[in-house]
Amino acid sequence: MDYGTAPESQTAAQDWLQQSPFGHFINNKWLKGNNHFDSINPATGEKLAQISQADDAVVSKAVKAAEQAAPKWQALSGHDRAKYLYALARLIQKNSRIISVLESLDNGKPIRESRDIDIPLAARHFYHHAGWAQLLDSELPNHKALGVVGQVIPWNFPFLMLAWKIAPAIATGNTVVLKPAEETSLTALYFADLCQQANLPEGVVNIVTGDGRVGEAIVNHKDIQKIAFTGSTAVGRKIRQATAGSGKKLSLELGGKSAFIVCEDADLDAAVEGVVDAIWFNQGEVCCAGSRLLIQESVAMRFEQKLQERMNKLRIGDPLDKSTDVGAIINKAQHQKITEMVKTGVKQGARILQAPGELPKQGYYYPPTLLADVAPGDLVVQEEIFGPVLVGMTFRTPAEAVALANNSRYGLAATIWSENINLALHLAPQMQAGVVWINCANQFDAAAGFGGVKESGFGREGGFEGLFEYLKPSDDFSTKKTLPKATKASGEPVATDAMDRTAKMYIGGKQVRPDGGYSYPIINAKGHTITQTGLGNRKDVRNAVEAAANAHQWSKMTAYQRQQVMYFMAENLSLRTDEFIDRLKDFGHSPGAAKKEIEQSIERLNYYAAWCDKFDGRVHAVPMRAVAMAMHEPIGIIGIACPAENPLLSFVSLMAPALAMGNRVVMLADEAFPLPALDLYQVLNTSDVPAGTVNILSGRHEDMLKTLAGHLNLDAMWYFGDQAGATLVEQESALNLKRTWTHIEAKNWTSDKAQGKTFLRMSVEVKNIWTPYGE
Ligand code: NAI
Repeated sequence: MDYGTAPESQTAAQDWLQQSPFGHFINNKWLKGNNHFDSINPATGEKLAQISQADDAVVSKAVKAAEQAAPKWQALSGHDRAKYLYALARLIQKNSRIISVLESLDNGKPIRESRDIDIPLAARHFYHHAGWAQLLDSELPNHKALGVVGQVIPWNFPFLMLAWKIAPAIATGNTVVLKPAEETSLTALYFADLCQQANLPEGVVNIVTGDGRVGEAIVNHKDIQKIAFTGSTAVGRKIRQATAGSGKKLSLELGGKSAFIVCEDADLDAAVEGVVDAIWFNQGEVCCAGSRLLIQESVAMRFEQKLQERMNKLRIGDPLDKSTDVGAIINKAQHQKITEMVKTGVKQGARILQAPGELPKQGYYYPPTLLADVAPGDLVVQEEIFGPVLVGMTFRTPAEAVALANNSRYGLAATIWSENINLALHLAPQMQAGVVWINCANQFDAAAGFGGVKESGFGREGGFEGLFEYLKPSDDFSTKKTLPKATKASGEPVATDAMDRTAKMYIGGKQVRPDGGYSYPIINAKGHTITQTGLGNRKDVRNAVEAAANAHQWSKMTAYQRQQVMYFMAENLSLRTDEFIDRLKDFGHSPGAAKKEIEQSIERLNYYAAWCDKFDGRVHAVPMRAVAMAMHEPIGIIGIACPAENPLLSFVSLMAPALAMGNRVVMLADEAFPLPALDLYQVLNTSDVPAGTVNILSGRHEDMLKTLAGHLNLDAMWYFGDQAGATLVEQESALNLKRTWTHIEAKNWTSDKAQGKTFLRMSVEVKNIWTPYGE
């Protein structure tokens, strides 16, 4: 038996395309475009329409429109904003067929997928976020919109990515300038029509088209407060660098090389279907595609056989045919890239298995492929191919599977197949990934956050966790007060043996002398040198990060265990109140102010100890028989450059939330007055804090910051200091795309606002673990 063809009509879509050449959508009106380029149907190579290449002036016009619209849009009640999102959701549903056809024509994806997945999910995002608009005031008081948001999206899920970006942004009161990928602008332009039909207020959504240069103009525009980007890691890194020091908030959804683990007790037939969904869905042009098959050795042969049989049955061809499984690759360049990568894989020793049969003569088609027997270091195992190409390796033990899965610079998703739920839930938390699917693959929903770790970027889209990408706390604790003292180290460095009593740094649970053998004078409020302190250098930074990397124990402890240690720290600090009062008097505090700072530090330790077992995740209500558990996990190692204000309280206020959530920290103590921070080693040593959990460095921040912020083993960096430092941190963070949290204003650490959930959120990664249930 064979399938006949079941072509979808494209008449309505072609009629709509008659408007071509297209312009830009600004202030709910069409702005005539110039410098047009062709939008090509990848299935035929034929021209579909002409799209305009925006210039800087067009981008500025769009930003201006968004800026002017922002105050009114923010001032609307949540209910009123919700009505617009709801109207857009309804319009997407009403027009879903034409949008699906346009999407398949423009991108080459099978109509079955655009019709059943992309477009319904896009509508779902608007419905879901209409709800958040309505609930925002009650559920997230003390938060406000950012202003104008620039959004740049890729070509693999053009309409869905638009929905992922626009729905949360406008629900939370922001206005938008969005640029679709140059290859696939059509459905974004269709969406512009829907904005008009929904009577969306002018300037709330603006759409400009063109290539990467338009993306760059958005990224660099000074009047934009946030950039949300989905695309390649290379461009994500450029954007991180371009926005460094600009104060723009940033979220990056980048590439992946996600592991697909099949354990020997898996339902192999179901897992084969899982592979189809993981890597042959959307021609494998999926950032979270399960592209690295890790199969337990005992079932490898059987699984490969089943996979080859299933591959043989995949129907490759016309995207508009309703029985097509695999459509066309986006363009010639991508097709070439896939072809080259596969050739390299074979050259490096991979055994190639491919779906048989002839491919259509016209268009950019590539057959579903498995590169078996690859080695962990092979190019095809490490690099994103972004096509229907799976690479396969075997493993013997679950521990080996974890090691192989995490052996990647990416960390977007992971899939685990096992009939043993204990094993699956043992593996899931060990995956370095933002999303884990157990016995299912490539599941998405607006209620569940999506996003990665490591070089897959940072930030979450969708779910409660995704809202924070478009909000900022309205109860900031910045202060205009000038700082009470010098913030920089002063005095010439001296050799450490010149003084007997040098305050030491604290690395790996030990007091250590600085690697360079130099110290610097610490000057009290009266201007007298009271002691010398180690002058940390790059080597000290590396030692501290290494110590933190080895201190796995803290991250593995239960929240209850961490809580007890933190209460103990508070108790031990309290016992040393008199010593710390003396230290803080040197800083210039009156005895009363010193005592107050210590009491507040103790209270803050207790506050975050209390949160240890309470800042937990959620179970998201996704529309299938599954639980999507949004777990709060530690980020890993956080570098923290501490501010000059309140040298004890600010240090504790930053260390405590990070510790409470299971992170290890490398702290750069206040530069001019690090003594209270360095003295804390006694408290840490007597409170059962495992060695390496907290590492404290002293010295000039400018000597250490670059090394710390750029360190590839560091997962996040918090910075409190000046503009130059914040810029440096954000620039250096681009190396491994670590999360950053930078501040350039002085803070009022004594305020109640200097503690709270924002600190806890900055201390966790949200991992969504999907587990279907039912027989
Ligand atoms: P890309 O990352 O260059 O393009 C994504 C978007 O960014 C497009 O809208 C593009 O116009 C824009 N852009 C390009 N350069 C920019 C810049 N300097 N500043 C701001 N915006 C810029 O991806 P491309 O070239 O389409 O594909 C290249 C490779 O990237 C693919 O082979 C694939 O491996 C990967 N990719 C990954 C995606 C993902 O979702 N993870 C999506 C698309 C591509």
